[in-house]
Amino acid sequence: MNMPATPLVVILMGSESDWETMRRAHKTLAEFGVPHESRVLSAHRTPDLVAEYVRASDANGAEVFIAGAGMAAALPGVVAALTTRPVLGVPVASGPLNGQDALHAIVQMPPGIPVGTLAIGGAGATNAALLAVAILANKYPVLAERLAAYRAAQAEKIQAITLPED
Ligand code: RP5
Repeated sequence: MNMPATPLVVILMGSESDWETMRRAHKTLAEFGVPHESRVLSAHRTPDLVAEYVRASDANGAEVFIAGAGMAAALPGVVAALTTRPVLGVPVASGPLNGQDALHAIVQMPPGIPVGTLAIGGAGATNAALLAVAILANKYPVLAERLAAYRAAQAEKIQAITLPED
């Protein structure tokens, strides 16, 4: 099946300050050629807009949601409550607890409404995008091919490493 031109992945984040982290998810999806869009919307500051936007994105064909937030990070759980599509949560290292608070908030969802939780920070944002690609690759064979090529390139890089001698 060919990928549509409309956004297959929607990236949400609670604040503009999260973009430095979440742009890695955006960049990775762009590298894989996955139609996506990124938007700042807050579970605490704009709850009605979150509901409106998630429902509209779902109706417009979004197949995976990535939500990043810091501190008392409610956004991924709220997004998961509004859609049955897979939701991937990225704890952002903002605030005095450096993302530990967000990690616990996102990973400790009560049973029934899951959020697939990634690592704190940039690694989590990159891996959220790679997981989104893996989910979509079940339906779009071109993404399975690109994912295999990405893994092969990664392995080649490792094999090409020569360590400096003393
Ligand atoms: C959360 O609070 C956001 O996701 C952000 O990580 C954190 C701080 O937000 P700002 O005060 O920088 O807008 O809602």
